[in-house]
Amino acid sequence: MKRTPMEAVILSDSHIKLVRAINDDYSAKTGFKRRAFIKTYGCQMNAHDSAKLESMLSDMGYERSEDEKNADLVIYNTCCVRERAEEKVFGKLGLLKAYKSNKPDMMIALCGCMVQQNAILDKTLKIHKHIDIIFGTFNIRRFPQLLFSRIETGGRVVDVWDEHDEIDEPVILNASFKASVNIMYGCDNFCSYCIVPYVRGHERSRRADDILDETRKLAANGAKEISLLGQNVNSYRSGDTNFAALIRMINDVDGVERIRFITSHPKDLSDELIEAMRDCKKVCRHIHLPAQSGSDKVLRDMRRGYTRERYLGLLAKLRAAMPDIDVTTDIIVGFPGETERDFQDTLNLVEEARYSGAFTFIYSKRAGTPAANMPNQIDEKTAKDRFNRLLAAIYPIALELNQRSLGRALMVLAEGKGANGLLTGRSEGNMTVHIDADERYIGSIIPVKITACKTFYLVGEIA
Ligand code: 5AD
Ligand code: SF4
Repeated sequence: MKRTPMEAVILSDSHIKLVRAINDDYSAKTGFKRRAFIKTYGCQMNAHDSAKLESMLSDMGYERSEDEKNADLVIYNTCCVRERAEEKVFGKLGLLKAYKSNKPDMMIALCGCMVQQNAILDKTLKIHKHIDIIFGTFNIRRFPQLLFSRIETGGRVVDVWDEHDEIDEPVILNASFKASVNIMYGCDNFCSYCIVPYVRGHERSRRADDILDETRKLAANGAKEISLLGQNVNSYRSGDTNFAALIRMINDVDGVERIRFITSHPKDLSDELIEAMRDCKKVCRHIHLPAQSGSDKVLRDMRRGYTRERYLGLLAKLRAAMPDIDVTTDIIVGFPGETERDFQDTLNLVEEARYSGAFTFIYSKRAGTPAANMPNQIDEKTAKDRFNRLLAAIYPIALELNQRSLGRALMVLAEGKGANGLLTGRSEGNMTVHIDADERYIGSIIPVKITACKTFYLVGEIA
């Protein structure tokens, strides 16, 4: 059934109250609060969806559990971008069966991208009868209703796919100095290897007014750093507002001190956006710009919509506009048909592009995507070998770039305390920084003088 966003909000609020009453009653009788555990796989979108679920769980009277064993409710928020993530979840579900046989009233929920694939959903329903609730990525907002229905009826609840034109307005999160805002959902790019457009649907941008309103509320609640989320934020458009204009609007929100956004697609990175980034001082001097490959032939087969030359041209423009900008990327090795020569092109792209960090992946065949049926699939040994050689190319460059920070002061948002007793935070370039400083700085953006540099992190003290 199709509901307006407002109807969805009212419905979910009333179910939150109903579940809360049930849980309060349980606490009054037993002296314990019910506990919920969430495990998140995959991208920042999923992490943000889990944060929304956590906020709803807290409103419904659940306490957070740090593991599955002691939880009354276990939620796996799944990813299907690569096969391995799916295998891990199936492994976990097997383990949960044993836990649940010792604790029959334990409830298990499975959500996220994995269950939006029909074949996986069918398999899950058949094999894993101990799962209580299954819901997709379009109906996070409906979770309280599904949970209530499971509690009341005792029957398994399944709610996936749906007419996905409506936009699920997100829950306003509790106060934190770091917050994410969905600006768009879905993806229309259909890169030949990628399953995301099939499970998250076509691209829909949220209204700029709604985004601004949410950002203002988050800032009023203490959010200093706002991350704008979408599969391809560069193609954001709502009415006359494109992404460049949206950034300028967010830059004017009082209280916001830092703006980040992911993910940018090179084919949609406009000069206008580069100018907006340059002009907006709150926009962090960092861009995550997935290249995927350095070979024009592979880029064409991947249907990425740009050439290597155009990609490098974009980096040159970005660096001309913002000389101190850090660039990170995503790269896939072992794409069908990738020759040693194509791979060499990726290696020399890495040399030319000079990334401060990269997410690297071995191509994973996803049923239903065009690449799954391409000839010349690459064998595992060759792909692994290329993967290791890719890392060997990336690491020394990242270290070299980090070393430029030695002795300099970087502005760092202190986020928490690490196991080593130091505070940990992020530089504008999104590099992890360990800081020898007092806990009272957590939540503040502070100048940190860098005293040591490694490949994956920096160390420093308050300047
Ligand atoms: N195999 C390997 N990596 C993939 N990615 C997306 N689909 C696949 C796949 N089938 C990577 C891309 C993307 C990142 C989020 O995941 O690099 O940018
Ligand atoms: Fe997948 Fe390409 Fe869309 Fe990114 S832009 S989500 S890689 S289809």
